[in-house]
Order: sequence, then structure tokens, then C-alpha cells
Amino acid sequence: MSRLLATGRSHPCGALRRDHEGAEVTLFGWVHRRRDHGGRIFVDLRDRTGLVQVVFGPDIDGAAHEAADRLRSEFCIGVQGTVVSRGDNENPNLPTGAIEVEAHTLEVFSESKTPPFVLSDDDRLDVHEDHRLRYRYLDLRRPSMQRNFRLRSELAQITRQVLTEHGFWELETPYLVKYTPGGARNFLVPSRLNPGTFYALAESPQIYKQLFMVAGFDRYFQITRCFRDEDLRNDRQPEFTQIDVEMSFATPDRVFEPIEQLLCAVLERLAGHRLAGPIPRMTWQEAMDRFGSDKPDLRFGLELVDVTSVTRACGFRVFEGAPLVKGLCLPPDRAARLSRTQLDKLTDFVRRREHGGAKGLAWARVEEGGSLKAPFAKNLREGVAAELVRATGAVPGGLLLFVADDFETVHAALSSLRLHLRDLLGLLEGAPTWKPVWITEFPLFERASDGAFVSSHHPFTSPLPEHVPLLDEDPARVRAQAYDLVLNGNEIGGGSIRIHRADVQAKVFEVLGLSEEEKARKFGFLLEAFQYGPPPHGGIALGLDRIAMLLAGATSLRDVIAFPKTQRGHDLMTGCPTPVDPAQLEELFITHRPLPSRGGDDGP
Ligand code: AMO
Ligand code: AMP
Repeated sequence: MSRLLATGRSHPCGALRRDHEGAEVTLFGWVHRRRDHGGRIFVDLRDRTGLVQVVFGPDIDGAAHEAADRLRSEFCIGVQGTVVSRGDNENPNLPTGAIEVEAHTLEVFSESKTPPFVLSDDDRLDVHEDHRLRYRYLDLRRPSMQRNFRLRSELAQITRQVLTEHGFWELETPYLVKYTPGGARNFLVPSRLNPGTFYALAESPQIYKQLFMVAGFDRYFQITRCFRDEDLRNDRQPEFTQIDVEMSFATPDRVFEPIEQLLCAVLERLAGHRLAGPIPRMTWQEAMDRFGSDKPDLRFGLELVDVTSVTRACGFRVFEGAPLVKGLCLPPDRAARLSRTQLDKLTDFVRRREHGGAKGLAWARVEEGGSLKAPFAKNLREGVAAELVRATGAVPGGLLLFVADDFETVHAALSSLRLHLRDLLGLLEGAPTWKPVWITEFPLFERASDGAFVSSHHPFTSPLPEHVPLLDEDPARVRAQAYDLVLNGNEIGGGSIRIHRADVQAKVFEVLGLSEEEKARKFGFLLEAFQYGPPPHGGIALGLDRIAMLLAGATSLRDVIAFPKTQRGHDLMTGCPTPVDPAQLEELFITHRPLPSRGGDDGP
């Protein structure tokens, strides 16, 4: 066996400091960079803890120096040597910068081909992400990526620690589950042993964790993978990890308590941030009214103002004809930064479907004396301009931006615009770094495109107790004991108190229009279990990847998932998904038909 390997590593590369001066060390790692300076060879040796400078010279050890001449980037090596001071050549940018290691022994464990891209963080963004994903194992060697995955590991450890302290048992649930239509689209897995039948990959452990409560396990958690065949975005992957939690005898407060302590511990230990006091709560209605979004970013103001009562008979047809008119009011210092051209771009912005698909954006600059300079100003009846200024609290030099439409469009457009202005105008300068908020009392139902009621969360979500009678009278007004945890404008978790009363469950199914046959087929086993003394219960699931992404300061889940998929669901490293042998399909009784040709690019 290699001598150095047998000796073993004495220190991680990034741990060496001035105190180690004079120590004899054995280090293992990768050649980050190699430079040849006047007879001496300098190697930055890298492992997951950091970099340290290793020096080879004829005066230190002739054989080692000669061997070092052949070193290239990303060779995996072991060195032995003495820690010495760098004296005046200290590198203040490197934690190990006060010292270097004079190497008398070098072993090359393995050589490396020239890597397809430079593995420094400075160049990261110059390399196309597809290329990075193709050679993911090299991309992951970058110091920034190593930091992200260390953070992810610590997040999992803190989760286990805090939840275990709160009496939660860590238990597993199946991935191969019964297919139930509705909710997220499932991936299907054919059963070879039962030709023609399929499992679904679990989109979440929801039903099983409720059965754990029926089983009397009282408090459960799991750090688990979930699979959803959804359209992918930067904050959505087809397989992602949840911190899944369920508890018996739950109220929203009792669910929030351990989760708040978990988030507190995570922010304190991984972001050095102490949350002041309990996490604030806001009903869904208030979040929509004030921010137009059920995941408001509370780090800055710029709240929506409702001017519908002012515009009802204002003379401007666009406003008069709309059920809702709301606006944003920019103060003069921010408003001054927006040119006419930029205002036109903002109009294009809100017109895009992904930003709400509004019909337009009506802007108005507030002049000295409180009059409005706006394309629509001439349409306004006497006195309306002054009323708009008063209602919005605008001051001279300020800018008003209005959208007139239905509830959904106004809120979708203005909440997108609010975040766009946040980035465009630097509204986070000097803002607090972490702003979590609970959003509570979501509507129990949404309307599908055909007008039918569907569950906003899932059919076992309990209505507010005082809203149970509304299930008969006006289901659209029923609010649920459902909540989301939102951090800096990102939904990092969601859950609810579940229905445990058969009569309430029956009413909800009635509103959803589920027949007896459908109920039995989809949820029969759960409903049967609920006939045997289910405890009142509730829970939540946190998106571990999303929390890791925010802590890492990343903007894509791909930066915190080791082997992620692209936007089109490809793993560019292994090349999956791939076609399979027709014989394999036959064994599964899946008939093979030629595929239609598919175009399109594969941006991540
Ligand atoms: P929900 O569907 O809201 O709830 O999911 C919980 C949290 O998981 C994260 N998340 C995702 N993260 C990455 N990629 C995805 N495709 C993705 N989808 C969801 C989000 C979200 O808040 N069973 C219920 C929870 C419960 O009721 O207890 C559930 O799965 O951060
Ligand atoms: P138009 O009547 O289409 O010429 O629009 C006049 C101005 O009102 C333009 O600046 C549009 O961008 C704006 N506008 C049109 N529809 C809406 C709307 N639904 N909400 C806000 N502004 C609108």
C-alpha cells in the first residue's frame, strides 16, 4: 500500500494556521493550481476544507521537487512536509495564508486529464451550466459548491436534532405507492410482477403520515424525497427533499412551535442571524390585499393600495370598467430613477402572461401642487386626481402605477411588478436579511377552469371550525386551517390541520363532487382507517432544498442539489431518461410505439 495512505492524513488542508509552524504534516487533496517560480514549485492543495500552499524545492527535497514538476491541475496527491511561516509573503485572502508546507514527500494517487473548465469560483458563471452539469463531479469540486453541500448537510443535522428534542420519531414511508389522481402529476412505475399495473412514486408522504397518527405514533418526521412530474422552474425539481412533519392533538400553534424553533436554530447556526421574537403571522386575505401574493417578501415596503372606491366613476373607462383597481406608489427618490422608456418596459412586463397578463399599466407622476401627469390624466373627472393622490399617500415627485382588472390579474401583475421594482431599483439596500412570515387561513377551495371546486391544499385539510356551516352555504368563502411558511418571498413550507371528523369530511367530498365510488377508489384505505379512532392531527412539510438555496444565497435549486435535472427533466451527466430495450417493455406488458419527434432546447 502507498506509504502516505498508510500513515494517514494529519490535518485537513484548510485547517493549518500559524500555530502549526514547525509541525510535520501529511495532507491529501487535489492540485488546484501549480506555479513554477525560479526553481521552486508552488502547489495550491485543495480539499473540502480549503486551500493550502505547498512548496517543492531542490533545497527541500530533490526527488519530491522533481516529481512535482509533473503535477497538473486536479491530480489527486498526498504530501508530507513541514509547516513554515510565509514571513512577509503572507496571503491575507486565504485562511491558511500565514503559512506554507515545505514538502519532502510527494505521492501521486491518480492523474487527471485536463479538466473541461477551470474549477475556480471566479469562472463559474462563465461556464455554461449545461457543461457544468455534464461534468457535475468536477463542478462539485468548486469551493462554493462544497460550501453549499456542507451547509445542506448541517441543515439536515440541525433538523434531526431539533425535531428529535421535540419528541418526533424519524420514520420512513414508501416511495412506491398507490396512484391517486389529482394533486401533482405522478411518475408511474410499472409492476413486472403484476403486468399491466403501476405504482406511483410518492409526491409526498401525506397519506402515510396521517396513518402514522392513526397508528398512535403521536409525532413523526422524515427527511424524504418527493417526486412530482411538474413543469420545472428554478425553484422546482422533479425530485426534491421535504422535511416532513405530522403531530397528533395538533393546533396550528402547536405545529408552529417546533418549526419556529427549527428555523431559529437554522438561521442562527447557518446564517448567523437571530430572529427577534416569534415569526409574524398574516392571513392569506391580508397578504393578498397588501402584497398581492401569498408569499410576500416582507424585507421592503411598497405595499399595494386599493383605489377602487376612488375610480368607480372617475371618467377613465379602463378604470371604471374594472372590478378592482390597485396601485403601487414609489417615493420621489426611487421614481426619479425610472425614465419614460423604462415605464414603457414596465407596461410590457405586466402584460406578459408569466407576470400576470394584465392589459396594461397606467402610470402617473405626481406634480408640485398634487396634480397628476399621466397619459390618462385628461380623462379624469374634476377632483379625481387629488383623491388618487390622497388615497395613495403620494407626494410630489412620486410615481403611481395602477392595474385595473379582476382580483387574480391585478394581484398577479402588481406582485410581480413589486418584486421586479425591488431588483430594478435596489429596494433591498439596507433591508433586513431574513424575514419569515406565516401565511394562514388559505381558502379551502379553488375553482378549476370548468368552475368546479377543487381543494387548494388537499381534501383532508380542515376548514376553520367556525366556517364548517359555510360548506353548505358558500364554499368559496370557507377558509382552511392551512398555512405556509414564507421566507424572503419564497414558500419554504406548507401544511394544515387535517379533518378527523367523518361528517366534515363527507361535506368536503360533497363540495368536491366526489362520488362514493371515487372516494372509495382514491382514499378508501384512509377513510377506513379513520373509522378506528383517529386523533385530531396536523402537520407541515418544509422544502429542504429551498431552505438550503436561500441559506447558500443561490437563485437556483440546482446549486444545492448534487445531481439535478434540467428544465426538461434531463440528467446531462448520465443522459437519462433514455429509451429502453423493447424486450424490457414487453416484459412489463407495455406496448411499444414509435415516438413523435420532439424539438426544443434543453436550457437548465
Ligand atoms: P407542499 O406541496 O406545499 O405540501 O410541499 C411542501 C414544500 O415542499 C417544497 N416543494 C418543492 N421544492 C422543490 N421542488 C418542488 N417541485 C417542490 N414542490 C414543493 C416547497 C413546499 O412549501 N404533504 C403536504 C404537506 C402537508 O400538508 O403536511 C405537501 O407536500 O417548499
Ligand atoms: P388604452 O386605452 O389601451 O390606450 O390604454 C391607455 C393606458 O392605460 C395605457 O397606458 C395602458 O397601458 C393603460 N391600461 C390599459 N389597460 C389597463 C388596465 N387594465 N390596467 C391598467 N392600465 C391599463
